[in-house]
Amino acid sequence: MPDAASSFALGSRTVHRMGYGAMQLAGPRVFGAPRDRDAALAILRAAVESGVDHIDTADFYGPHTINQVIREALWPYPPNLVIVTKVGAARGEDGSVRSATTPRELTQAVHDNLRNLRVDVLDVVNFRVMIDEYSPAEGSIDEQFTMLAELQLQGLIRHLGISHATAAQVAEARRISGVVCVQNLYNISHRADDALIDHLAAEGVAYVPYFPLGGISPLQSSMLTQVAAELGATPMQVALAWLLHRSPNILLIPGTSSVRHLRENLQAAALRLPEHVHERLDAIARRSPAGQPVVGHRMKGT
Ligand SMILES: NC(=O)c1ccc[n+]([C@@H]2O[C@H](COP(=O)([O-])OP(=O)(O)OC[C@H]3O[C@@H](n4cnc5c(N)ncnc54)[C@H](OP(=O)(O)O)[C@@H]3O)[C@@H](O)[C@H]2O)c1
Repeated sequence: MPDAASSFALGSRTVHRMGYGAMQLAGPRVFGAPRDRDAALAILRAAVESGVDHIDTADFYGPHTINQVIREALWPYPPNLVIVTKVGAARGEDGSVRSATTPRELTQAVHDNLRNLRVDVLDVVNFRVMIDEYSPAEGSIDEQFTMLAELQLQGLIRHLGISHATAAQVAEARRISGVVCVQNLYNISHRADDALIDHLAAEGVAYVPYFPLGGISPLQSSMLTQVAAELGATPMQVALAWLLHRSPNILLIPGTSSVRHLRENLQAAALRLPEHVHERLDAIARRSPAGQPVVGHRMKGT
């Protein structure tokens, strides 16, 4: 069992706070099979061998192919591994992303995940809100989340979460069923969810930032580079360590298609940020325009 500082509850399990996001293993624009299947298998195996017990995925990555690669690399799964998937989107033949949130589509997505991951029950399913693909937008999620709660009652899903959601949608989902995690865009420069993170921490709910390193074009900041040099770390390690320090309920799923970056990212769990660097790191968000990350983050694939 991981120790308290390096772990947090994710549903009925306790996981290390440093996990792995599998989205970068897909082809360009998260569409198609991995460019190098053997490399993808090696990364997943290296992650688990290094102690990662929380992997984030979606059956619409590829689509299908990333879950199939996870299965090939890791099945039969170690008993402590929590695989978190998401539903709510689907891919067109041309790679386009669309909302897929009718009861039929949600049921289909759950069965696609079960089959491609080769499990009887999905550990955690996030409902990816698709009212606006690129930025959380208000609107009721009652019908969709109730459908997922029904699939949970059928024994197909152990725990539910929500992604790309406003605070009101998180509250609505929590009234319908237990929510064990919220997965929204958040990183050292993009902090729209500060209040939500604090609220969820008080409630014991995990917050899992997507794009922890900035997403499609990783974070670039001279302050990050400067602090990293002073600490003998890399800018990405400082960005991850800052997230770990930000709140104890934050679980990380940095994505990478490289074993070298994987190892670098995992080492960030051991990096302690001295008090005096916090104010300087906080300035990174203050310098970027309100609500905007330092770098662009739009990408297909959610
Ligand atoms: N719920 C949602 O809507 C949603 C949306 C997006 C993503 N996600 C999930 O969140 C996870 C994380 O997001 P993400 O992968 O898109 O973005 P990310 O983790 O912020 O960044 C990934 C990018 O950073 C690079 N990178 C990783 N480690 C690095 C290092 N040590 N040094 C330099 N560059 C490094 C990767 O390139 P290399 O491959 O070259 O390392 C890749 O370009 C995804 O894998 C996915 O599971 C969820």
